[in-house]
Amino acid sequence: MKTVNYGIIGTGYFGAGLGRLIDALEGAKVVAVYDPENAEKVATELKCDVEDSIEALCSRTDVDAVIVASPNGFHKHPVQCAAENKKHVFCEKPIALSYQDCNEMIEKTKENGVIFMAGHVMNFMNGVRTAKKLINEGRIGEILFCHAERNGWEEAQTEISWKKKREISGGHLYHHIHELDFIQFLMGPAERVTMMGGNVAHHGEKFGNEDDMLFISLEFSNNRFATLQYGSAFRWGEHYVKIQGTKGAILIDLQDVKVVLKMPEGEEQFLLHESKEVDDDRTRIYKGLEMDGAIMYGKPNHAPPLWLHGIMNQEMIYFHDIMQGAEVEEEFKPLLDGTAARAAIATADALTLSKEEDRKVSVREITDKEVVMK
Ligand SMILES: NC(=O)c1ccc[n+]([C@@H]2O[C@H](COP(=O)([O-])OP(=O)(O)OC[C@H]3O[C@@H](n4cnc5c(N)ncnc54)[C@H](O)[C@@H]3O)[C@@H](O)[C@H]2O)c1
Repeated sequence: MKTVNYGIIGTGYFGAGLGRLIDALEGAKVVAVYDPENAEKVATELKCDVEDSIEALCSRTDVDAVIVASPNGFHKHPVQCAAENKKHVFCEKPIALSYQDCNEMIEKTKENGVIFMAGHVMNFMNGVRTAKKLINEGRIGEILFCHAERNGWEEAQTEISWKKKREISGGHLYHHIHELDFIQFLMGPAERVTMMGGNVAHHGEKFGNEDDMLFISLEFSNNRFATLQYGSAFRWGEHYVKIQGTKGAILIDLQDVKVVLKMPEGEEQFLLHESKEVDDDRTRIYKGLEMDGAIMYGKPNHAPPLWLHGIMNQEMIYFHDIMQGAEVEEEFKPLLDGTAARAAIATADALTLSKEEDRKVSVREITDKEVVMK
């Protein structure tokens, strides 16, 4: 088996976690890391080198692929630098905070013939795969409507993380792009969208500057619709996706952790993660005091919880298999060339414009603008 060497850019909470997981796989080795603050400890643990710049890491001849896990607003440069050096890339979500940046990143990776996998980890949840399978088998008929909520209450912060700063994280919509991406995976790209919301309850120095309530509507072709709610000003928090079809419906509940198929003749229940133990552990976390606004905001030197560890591992196994030459199946092609991630950001940009200009926006206003600019 050929050994694939990895470099990691950004070894905080997630980058260190991904690094540990991939390094433990057969035929995988993390050979270098770069992080302006947190590289040394991870490098000692993984017995690898520390590089002092993104360029130095990407130009190493022994690096085959680069994992980018820097803060959201700082993904573009490392992805492009890796591509220019002919390294394959795995990039955390959201891959960028604008459609235009996504385009430039896709162009660069395509031009250099490298894989550009987006870290849309929800794809690797067992229950999400089960839901897709049930849908493909026609169990719930045609999808008419989806609704997702990812919300909760944010308490005052002692230190304001970049995750709460809109210019770096993109705010809840971009930072938690998972649900929007998943709904578009099921229903295709949204055509016309609206978003209302604002920062209603988190002003002042104890908070960041993101909007804490976002209400989204998406219109798809053939009279199909979706709505989503995101935010951290909800005392009654929820985290789920509901899929309504002509014959039945599916609930993916990420808080009271389970997947339910609801048919006229009754209900069937499935696991969301790999075991009941992991599902229960996630429910415990969500119902306990460890959450902050329906979001586990991990920090450098923290280990991800069991459920997240499991899907991160699945994701790294998948990426590593591709690096070792496995064929990309049809379903995952858009995940591996950045186009699925770009479609989600295009819709997020249209939603942002809708809120800014207080009107319904066609997603083509975002995607066609780019064509005109070229
Ligand atoms: N898929 C998921 O469920 C999930 C969960 C958590 C985080 N993430 C994503 O992973 C990425 C990292 O998040 P995190 O939770 O590890 O944050 P973090 O703050 O714990 O770590 C970020 C690290 O990046 C470093 N950094 C800062 N500026 C940098 C730069 N310009 N270049 C390289 N490194 C830089 C910081 O020093 C820090 O060590 C983000 O894109 C985030 O959205 C995804």
